[in-house]
Amino acid sequence: MRRFLRFFLVLLLLTFIVIQFFQTEKNNEQVSSKHIFKQEEVPENIRQILTAACLDCHSNQTNYLWYNKIAPVSWIIDKHIQHGKSELNFSEWETMDIFEKITMLEEVCQETERKTMPLKSYSTLHPKAKLSDEQIAALCAWTTKLSEELLANAAGK
Ligand code: HEC
Repeated sequence: MRRFLRFFLVLLLLTFIVIQFFQTEKNNEQVSSKHIFKQEEVPENIRQILTAACLDCHSNQTNYLWYNKIAPVSWIIDKHIQHGKSELNFSEWETMDIFEKITMLEEVCQETERKTMPLKSYSTLHPKAKLSDEQIAALCAWTTKLSEELLANAAGK
């Protein structure tokens, strides 16, 4: 029994070491001028909310925690990032048309109000991503204001 256990543990350790060689590409591009922070007026408190709770999965810049780089955790995180970015990527804000932007702004507010975003698994490990009711209200006030401005600008052209 003990020999079996030792064999099993060594096997587990070896597997763990081997899988470290199968890393996913890191999501850490430079911030470009297409980023929402460069494109729109985003007040400091909203920047902080988005950075703390959303941008790790909805931008090309993930702030990795040390254990995020260790497989198999890194694989799970990469899946979340790829999936999150495919729905909404704040780093590519400029490439979206006005309808996409306005729809997304509404969803940003809705998902946050319903507490479906950020993902539970994320906010459990990132205490700063747990948004207070005041933060959610501020975020929604901002998404509404920005949508109105985008519409007004489009109408003015
Ligand atoms: C841990 C990664 C992660 C974080 C952090 C995160 N999201 Fe998401 N988000 C996802 C994934 C994955 C999806 C696609 C699957 C889904 O809808 O659940 C998604 C989808 C979305 C969508 C599209 C929903 C739809 O139905 O089209 C919106 C809007 C969104 N997130 C907003 C946010 C906002 C706002 C925050 C911050 C308050 C946030 N997300 C934080 C991973 C994340």
